[in-house]
Amino acid sequence: MDAQKARKLLAEAELIHSEAAVQAALDEVAGCIRSQLSEKNPLVLCVMTGGVIFTGQLLPKLDFPLDFDYLHATRYGADTQGGKISWRMAPWTSVKGRTVLVVDDILDEGVTLAAVKDSLLQLGADEVLLAVFTDKLNGKNKPIAADFVALPVPDRFVFGYGMDVDGAWRNLPAIYAMKED
Ligand code: IMP
Ligand code: MG
Repeated sequence: MDAQKARKLLAEAELIHSEAAVQAALDEVAGCIRSQLSEKNPLVLCVMTGGVIFTGQLLPKLDFPLDFDYLHATRYGADTQGGKISWRMAPWTSVKGRTVLVVDDILDEGVTLAAVKDSLLQLGADEVLLAVFTDKLNGKNKPIAADFVALPVPDRFVFGYGMDVDGAWRNLPAIYAMKED
C-alpha cells in the first residue's frame, strides 16, 4: 500500500486498544503463560508474519527455559476445511514429544490455527497450546479456542500490533479498527 493511502487509513481509523492497554494486557498474558508453562521447557512457535510483534515482546517476559522457532502456513483455498494447510515454512525444530506454544496475532474464524494445531500434533507434539494477542468477537463457532488471549477485538477489520491492512501498519504499537463505510 502506498504511504499516502496508509496514512489516510490510520487517520480515519478508530483506536480500539491504546499502547498502554496493549502493554498491560501483554504483561497479564505473559504471567498466565509463565504460570502454566514455566516447568515444561516449551517450544515456542511464532506464526509468521502477524505473530511477530506479540512474540517479540512476549519472549523477554518469559523468564524460564524454552526453545524458539517459527512457522508460516497458509490455507490451500478459502473454502478448505481444517487439516489441509500448506506450509510455507514448517518448523525446523522437531516438535516430537514437546509442549508447543503457538503464538499468533488474531483468532478470527480459527480455521488456520486449528489446522496448524492438527499438523503439529500429527508431527508428534505432546501438546499444543495456542496464544493469540486478540480474539475477534465475531459470534462464530470457532473450531479452536485459544488457551491464552490478551485482548478481545470487535467484529471489525482491525490492524496494528502485528495485524496488517494490505501489508501496512503491522508496526503500530496500538490496535485500531478500520473506518466502517
Ligand atoms: P482464520 O482464523 O483462519 O480466519 O484466519 C486468521 C488470519 O486472518 C489471521 O492470522 C490474520 O492474518 C487474518 N485476519 C483475520 N482478521 C483480521 C483482521 O481483522 N485484521 C487483520 N488480519 C486479520
Ligand atoms: Mg496471520
